[in-house]
Amino acid sequence: MMWPVRVLQVSDLHTGTLEEPEVEEDLRRLVAEADPELVVASGDLTHRNKPDQHARAAGFLRSLERPLLVIPGNHDIPVWPPARFTATFDAFRREWPETEPVYRSERIVACGLNSVRPWKHQGGALRRDQIEGVGRTFAESAAGALRLVALHHHLMGAPWRTRKLTIANRSTVLGGLVDAGADLIVSGHVHQSSVGERREFEVLTAASRLHATTVAIAPGLGQPRPKRRGEARGLHLYEADERSLRVLTYAWAPAVGHGLGSWVQIADRRFPRGEEPLATVG
Ligand SMILES: [Fe+2]
Ligand SMILES: [Fe+2]
Repeated sequence: MMWPVRVLQVSDLHTGTLEEPEVEEDLRRLVAEADPELVVASGDLTHRNKPDQHARAAGFLRSLERPLLVIPGNHDIPVWPPARFTATFDAFRREWPETEPVYRSERIVACGLNSVRPWKHQGGALRRDQIEGVGRTFAESAAGALRLVALHHHLMGAPWRTRKLTIANRSTVLGGLVDAGADLIVSGHVHQSSVGERREFEVLTAASRLHATTVAIAPGLGQPRPKRRGEARGLHLYEADERSLRVLTYAWAPAVGHGLGSWVQIADRRFPRGEEPLATVG
């Protein structure tokens, strides 16, 4: 198998707010250069769930000319009842038939999960059977493939201030996805980047599974509330080989003077992949 493999994650496009063609144009350049096998779009594709916003978001994502794994966010459903309950994912499904897509290749198996719940305003949740489904998909996948889970709502707290709560029962969700064999869990929703390996926040016991699971929240690609502090504009690029997983964070640097804005890399973090640590002492 040829390593490394790359996955690009964009989240929270919020299409329908700002329109900035140079952001999209430079992202196409980044995709051409980084050559990801898969592009993940982890929800909040639109700001108001309008059909034209979905069409525009889909047009942009398809223009990247890569396989796509696209899932809904809490902004991708109607705001008001009864449509919120009777036609919850209709607008999303016009562009993307599945709310829980799966992508498989020799090097990647990626499960999209729908964590949006119409009776919750901001929060999200997963059912046990959704997590069990991930376990079955991973069990059937090629040995050694990068096992990725994408959902809109975040498991890990945001590094900066936010009122958004993490996904319901996050310890159960994380435990289930770790047991399913996930190497990487990616989400969005908070518009801030945060990355950690689960053993950075969970103590190990003799019974613990040793394989690394990296949990990542991507910044927002869109900027629906430009004045709000604590909402970053960026994206994540993941690069995996057999033993390690790199997470590269990019931020949008706006134009200065007569120059053009561009995507700039602002962080490069490395985590173990599989059961071996990055290093041992001695
Ligand atoms: Fe969002
Ligand atoms: Fe969201």
